[in-house]
Amino acid sequence: MGQAGRIAVIGSGGIGGYLAGALEQVGHAVTLCVRTPFERLIVTDASGEREVPVRIVADPQEVGPAEWVLVTTKAQDTASAEPWFRRLVGPGTRVAVVQNGVDQAARARPHLAADVPVLPAIIYCSVERTAPGRITHHGSTKMSVPAGEDGAAFVRLFAGTPFEITQEADFTTVAWRKLLSNAVANPITALTLRRIAVFREPAIQELARGLMDEVIRVANAEGAKLTGEDGARILEGYLRFNGDGGSSMLYDRLAGRPLEHAHLTGAVVAAAERHGIDVPLNRTILALLVAASGQGLAGDR
Ligand SMILES: NC(=O)c1ccc[n+]([C@@H]2O[C@H](COP(=O)([O-])OP(=O)(O)OC[C@H]3O[C@@H](n4cnc5c(N)ncnc54)[C@H](OP(=O)(O)O)[C@@H]3O)[C@@H](O)[C@H]2O)c1
Repeated sequence: MGQAGRIAVIGSGGIGGYLAGALEQVGHAVTLCVRTPFERLIVTDASGEREVPVRIVADPQEVGPAEWVLVTTKAQDTASAEPWFRRLVGPGTRVAVVQNGVDQAARARPHLAADVPVLPAIIYCSVERTAPGRITHHGSTKMSVPAGEDGAAFVRLFAGTPFEITQEADFTTVAWRKLLSNAVANPITALTLRRIAVFREPAIQELARGLMDEVIRVANAEGAKLTGEDGARILEGYLRFNGDGGSSMLYDRLAGRPLEHAHLTGAVVAAAERHGIDVPLNRTILALLVAASGQGLAGDR
């Protein structure tokens, strides 16, 4: 059992719902801060379906300071969480930004006082929101945070949950390694409307290798220590994957929601431009994602 504490989770999608469920199960008092209200949080995983008794709140005026605030919105929605920050952050509050991409802490920082600790967290966890408040876990329960006092406190917070959390001395490499995966799996599943099984297609494997080669060059220029072996391991992982998971970008495309492209492929292209590196495949993919973002599947009329 972890030591019970007041935890706020901003965002009630796949990641927010699953983290809320994991923390509630070890005795924390969890408030789920939602944008679109719903009545009940139901989490389905390998052990079955469970209703999670968390407090669900849609109005920031109804919450007060928490010990931890976990930000689990899509990256592009971080700024919209500011009204929640104003109410949830008090003396001693720590904020963790559990999102994909490479600038997690920088996204939240402009909306918080300079002395509030902001911890970036990389998560490996395949979760799908199938309806408001309904979360299906497809596999993996791993997170990484930078080594240090806040990272150690985050590890203690999740004690007793299924999460295995590593504290990393070189978080830049960890974040870019995850982006190496997300800049390939997310766009390819979202643009083809296929799940991870799409990587069994030889031509898709070739495209994935091309995208990864570009991302690795950019990551190295940003100070991350990635090699072609990282890319090969990621691709092998996709090929071994037997579940029916997709990617959060695929789920957004299917629902006609805005895509997270600006913080994934867009982050690669922006960093490439800063370093004068040509990334034609990633630029092509970015153009397609920009055009697809927020569109339904019915096509133009
Ligand atoms: N899902 C995965 O398997 C997975 C795996 C690894 C990493 N990630 C990363 O984790 C992050 C979260 O992904 P996700 O899949 O959980 O996203 P998601 O299912 O789209 O959930 C995001 C949630 O944030 C809510 N939200 C947005 N703005 C808000 C605000 N101002 N106040 C309160 N709630 C707000 C959304 O509300 P609505 O209900 O109104 O849309 C939605 O419920 C992303 O960076 C993603 O790339 C996801």
